[in-house]
Amino acid sequence: MSDPDARIRSLVRPQVREMQAYHVAEAGGLIKLDAMENPYPWPPALREKWLRALGAVRPNRYPDPEAGSLKALIREVFGIPDGVGLMLGNGSDELIQLLGLALGGADRSVLTPAPGFAMYRIIAGFTGMDYREVPLRRDDFGLDAEAMLEAVRRDRPTIIYLAYPNNPTGNAFDRAAVEAVIREAPGVVVLDEAYHAFCGESFVDDIGRWPNLLVMRTVSKMGLAGLRLGYLAGHPDWLAQLEKCRLPYNVNALTQESARFALEHIEVFEEQTACIRRDREALQSALAAMPAIRVWDSRANFLAFRVPPGKAPAVHRGLLEAGVLIKQLHGSHPLLEDCLRVTVGTPQENERFLENLGRIVDAVHASWRRTR
Ligand SMILES: Cc1ncc(COP(=O)(O)O)c(C=O)c1O
Repeated sequence: MSDPDARIRSLVRPQVREMQAYHVAEAGGLIKLDAMENPYPWPPALREKWLRALGAVRPNRYPDPEAGSLKALIREVFGIPDGVGLMLGNGSDELIQLLGLALGGADRSVLTPAPGFAMYRIIAGFTGMDYREVPLRRDDFGLDAEAMLEAVRRDRPTIIYLAYPNNPTGNAFDRAAVEAVIREAPGVVVLDEAYHAFCGESFVDDIGRWPNLLVMRTVSKMGLAGLRLGYLAGHPDWLAQLEKCRLPYNVNALTQESARFALEHIEVFEEQTACIRRDREALQSALAAMPAIRVWDSRANFLAFRVPPGKAPAVHRGLLEAGVLIKQLHGSHPLLEDCLRVTVGTPQENERFLENLGRIVDAVHASWRRTR
């Protein structure tokens, strides 16, 4: 094969050449607690009914380009107020990309608190936007309202992303601080409510209060990660602009039908998310009871925790060897030194995680105390 190097250097934009492709950890055969998925399969009878419903999908035809009936159901099930515009994406990742495509370019910037969700930075990079971060407060990962407002006034960002609750820290920012940022922002503020099913609070009913507020959500975390479906709600004039950058059939026919079916059985997912919220509390208490560990409160379906200094890689590796995959946060941001993140799994999975973590941390904690 001839060497394409010279052409790559001259043709691929420098921002893209400098990027790394998004890496997803190999999870075959492991207890998968790294990606905030809902661990529960569908009840067998529901699955049978779903497969029958999928039989009506005609794969030879393009899907409904507007996904009209699915949108109507999303409005009803998730309480999107009348008069608010709605747009669907192939996951909320695609909606972030659409925002970048419509609003990106030179002299445009994205501002977000950090540590935060990696896709804001990655997509800002390949849509040609400057990416700026304001550190969260060190101790509780709260929004540093003063620093955020200062950055908003100084940088006049085109897009501000606020994940509510935040990933990877799990906390929901102070509401008054969020409102102050929305008021001050000269551009759009995207409230990313990916974890709304576990939070109990939302900005959806506030959309009408501000012309620059967009609320983004996904069905991934409530139990439909494989479908790839996110939605963006906001002023219809904003969404009319973003629609111009949306590919006509971005939500495929199998996803439209499956999501429609799932939302007609929303009680199944509500029950599962209620279990996850309950188990989150149990998991947090168990982590808090381990002397070497600090765990933070969470309003999402995961918990961030800190292990003794320098031990996060050993803990992560030890868990992997025991068949449990969680997320290594150490090394991704200075505020996340010695931190890891675990998704709430089934009670059995949580138990496996806790048993192994306890064993590994006891060993590393003992050696840590000996070396002090
Ligand atoms: C804050 C936040 N926003 C958006 C997403 C992406 O969700 P989706 O699966 O809809 O692309 C995630 C996924 O982890 C997330 O944590």
